Amino acid sequence: MTTTTALDLDAFWMPFTANRQFKQAPRMLVKAEGMHYTSDDGRKVLDGTAGLWCVNAGHCRPTIVEAVRRQVGELDYAPPFQMGHPKAFELANQVARILPASHKHVFFVNSGSEGVDTALKIALAYHRVKGEGARQRLIGRERGYHGVGFGGISVGGMVNNRKTFGSMLAGVDHLRHTHDLARNAFTKGQPEHGVELAEDLERLVALHDASTIAAVIVEPMAGSTGVLLPPKGYLQRLREICDKHGILLIFDEVISGFGRLGAPFAFDKFGVTPDMVVVAKGLTNGTVPMGAVFASDKVHDAFMTGPEGAIELFHGYTYSGHPVAAAAGIATLDIYRTERLFERANELAPYWEETIHSLRGTANVIDIRNMGLVAGVELASIPGKVGARAYDVFVRAFKKGLLIRTTGDIIALSPPLIIEKAHIDEVANKLSEAIREAA
Ligand SMILES: Cc1ncc(COP(=O)(O)O)c(C=O)c1O
Repeated sequence: MTTTTALDLDAFWMPFTANRQFKQAPRMLVKAEGMHYTSDDGRKVLDGTAGLWCVNAGHCRPTIVEAVRRQVGELDYAPPFQMGHPKAFELANQVARILPASHKHVFFVNSGSEGVDTALKIALAYHRVKGEGARQRLIGRERGYHGVGFGGISVGGMVNNRKTFGSMLAGVDHLRHTHDLARNAFTKGQPEHGVELAEDLERLVALHDASTIAAVIVEPMAGSTGVLLPPKGYLQRLREICDKHGILLIFDEVISGFGRLGAPFAFDKFGVTPDMVVVAKGLTNGTVPMGAVFASDKVHDAFMTGPEGAIELFHGYTYSGHPVAAAAGIATLDIYRTERLFERANELAPYWEETIHSLRGTANVIDIRNMGLVAGVELASIPGKVGARAYDVFVRAFKKGLLIRTTGDIIALSPPLIIEKAHIDEVANKLSEAIREAA
């Protein structure tokens, strides 16, 4: 086990972290197995967040570990441009087995952020190859999180992720977000109210004209902003408006993909098929960085014209389809399939829902929302100190042996899909104690 007490913490500039606060009182994880982490002081910590929404099959699964070990010793790296290796093709084929037949084209990237930028670039290039190069506008949504690349922060809608980074991409507009505590608080599953917010897209079409709009990108379930489920009918309506105006619809399923909502993907769950899907995280169970964009035949085939010797898309990464990541992905999908983890998430969802909603009535809890094996617990903010209450709960929960995630004053829960009912009880009990103590 790595010793952390003697470590100098200064050199590592930590991402999305209050560095000075953290380094005063570090929280270090040194091992993981199944549903648990081990902290550097030897405590077992129940993983209520699947790492960072990614370890859907639980930690250090032996078959994934073995596949990675074998691969790195057999073919550590192979260039992906004008060269191939079997594992990338095999993983794409494995993924295609859980995709609609019309969406089996898989473009590999290394993260969700790269996946988002890739999908946005494909959307722009698609219209250009179709002879509609004036379609350059991209539409995102308030409170959306699409990673941290310039494309992602441009279409994203979380102000702290955008405000310090200049003017970003030009020609971007946003739909309003769908969060509505006044009408939808304590909804189990999809909220009743808010379908009309999809009409924002018609308003943006009226403002900019459809001939200038390339794509709309949304998270079908907005995760990082605090678990916002789509109102009933909302995604269907977005699809209809996109179809009516020739606009591509992109779903960012970096969090909602690979079983989180009790179906392989959110588009399966909600019965709305986008033109492109961005995934990452659960694709390799978080073991090796990897993401992907799934494209429909319509999008992909538009590029497969012109001379056969011409490169169709001038885009890709040194590590697109990296052999070690591909091996991890194949082993991960095998676990999802053989252990029926997506179905398992669906089967456990009612117990999860009932248990998490039992926190209703706890001091300062102003909303609870859930689907599959994800939940958001929203707390009233301390006036003038947004985020302080949830951070207090987070620290207390960690001390009690539970890892949660917070954004502002919202607690997000997204455990590995191998969770047992006893763990669900433990999540609720420890969280309830932490919230009451922080009150
Ligand atoms: C919906 C969504 N898109 C994109 C990203 C960015 O992924 P990454 O951090 O792998 O770049 C995230 C990360 O949480 C996400 O939740």
